[in-house]
Amino acid sequence: MPKTVFVLNGPNLNLLGKRQPEIYGHETLADVEAQCLATAKVNGLAIRFHQSNAEFQIIDWIHEARETAAGIIINPAAFTHTSVAILDALNAFEGPVLEVHISNVHKREAFRHHSYVSLRADGVIAGFGVQGYTLALQRMADLLAATQG
Ligand code: DQA
Repeated sequence: MPKTVFVLNGPNLNLLGKRQPEIYGHETLADVEAQCLATAKVNGLAIRFHQSNAEFQIIDWIHEARETAAGIIINPAAFTHTSVAILDALNAFEGPVLEVHISNVHKREAFRHHSYVSLRADGVIAGFGVQGYTLALQRMADLLAATQG
């Protein structure tokens, strides 16, 4: 059985490709999902790919991941900078957590420089465009290969 990785996306990422393409690029979230599926397959992983604009939904998926997933890749979008609740949920998850940002948040407004999620994340990718997701999946495959079970 392949190990399952949850790939979770926060608010406004459903508009990827249409929203500020000069910052986030022209690829859609469906394109990102297709790239993640292909990368997961090559690396012997299964993925569950989700997006929500609602904080509670992301928290519920993290709780579900406790039972069914070996790792979490998360782009919490604006919740990165605001959500203690998502940090708390991730702290209740035992596997590796990787944080992805399409843009280089450190080159942007000061309020984007702080991430609650980074207090839990085992690694952070920012500014690699949507390629950050596939790089995170490759890293996740290595991290999970190094663990038992
Ligand atoms: C983002 C960066 C966040 O600051 C922003 O609120 C987003 C997307 C990124 O992928 O670059 O919505 O997480």
